[in-house]
Amino acid sequence: MLDVLCGRQAERRPAWMMRQAGRYLPEYQATRAQAGSFLDLCYNPQLAAEVTLQPLRRFDLDAAILFADILLLPQALGVGVSFKAGEGPVVEKVASPEAVRLLRADRLGGSISKVYETVALVRANLGADKTLIGFCGAPWTVASYMIEGGSSEERLSARLAAWRQERWFEDLIEVLIESSVTYLSRQIEAGAEVVQIFDTWAIDLPGALRDRYCFEPIRRMRQELRSLHPHTPVIGFARGLGAGQADFVRVTGVDACGLESTVPLPFARDVLTPMCAVQGNLDPLALIAGGPVMRGEVLRIVESLPADRHVFNLGHGIRPETPISHVAEMIDIVRESDRCG
Ligand code: CP3
Repeated sequence: MLDVLCGRQAERRPAWMMRQAGRYLPEYQATRAQAGSFLDLCYNPQLAAEVTLQPLRRFDLDAAILFADILLLPQALGVGVSFKAGEGPVVEKVASPEAVRLLRADRLGGSISKVYETVALVRANLGADKTLIGFCGAPWTVASYMIEGGSSEERLSARLAAWRQERWFEDLIEVLIESSVTYLSRQIEAGAEVVQIFDTWAIDLPGALRDRYCFEPIRRMRQELRSLHPHTPVIGFARGLGAGQADFVRVTGVDACGLESTVPLPFARDVLTPMCAVQGNLDPLALIAGGPVMRGEVLRIVESLPADRHVFNLGHGIRPETPISHVAEMIDIVRESDRCG
């Protein structure tokens, strides 16, 4: 994984899955029940390390991703966050100058240091040939949850604040850039070898807004991380940019870009791989469908993209209803293709 991300010759095509620790695994369900709530699990280093490692015991994966959530950062800034069963996150709204001023931007608080303990614990229990990925949400995506007060179909308030270039909105993005760099930097100091920035809602931002609130924050984060940790690669996952992934890579300087499932493979190969490594992009629903359809898609991906410029992954997170046997088969197909060269 590190060889591919750093542009070196690789032994084989690395593979992992976004949201690989999660509800499709019965052992995850059991550990989560033992922890109590989802947040209790995130802040329990022993149990969070356990669920981080679970998928690697089942599947021949090359990387573990820290078990946490992008909404732990707002909580560390002093914002109320909870997860309601079946409903997703509930976040205390931050959508005014006063609310932004109240954010505890200079010192991350709450239980966030537990996350760094989890990172250290995972690294200590992970094979030397496996890579540990840390992560955070991108400023735009995290801001959208803070402004909307949780998940939202269209994120209208957040998008409107961006169009209006509200002063408090710009201040919020600034706070998130600075605190996310601190957060990722601490994860790297604790043992994360790669970090991924999730901009799940990058697709919301057209034209000038995309430059200002997706590209520019991630460019700054990449630059500040490079000065703190020059050898740690950064993966940018700006979901939904399509052909705009090329500008994303050029502007931000990320070492790899995560591709949503609709990005055409010839474009990824011809335009993106000369600039960076690419990660993706099997449709999580093709994985649920399984059988010859899934096989065909996996082969199309691995045959289109060079093994030492590609990290096999899904185009978005694995869904809870995914059959475990399909995951095992998917990884087998990737491994077979390694052997066939
Ligand atoms: O990838 C991994 O295995 C690591 C863990 C991880 C989680 N969330 C655990 C989680 C990661 C990398 C995330 C990122 C995340 N969280 C994103 C960006 C990536 C993406 O998928 O687009 C976003 C937008 C969130 C916010 C979030 N967390 C939502 C909207 C929800 C509710 C919807 C859902 O999937 O349940 C969560 C909850 C969450 N985060 C769960 C897990 C395993 C499910 C909680 C549970 O166990 O009940």
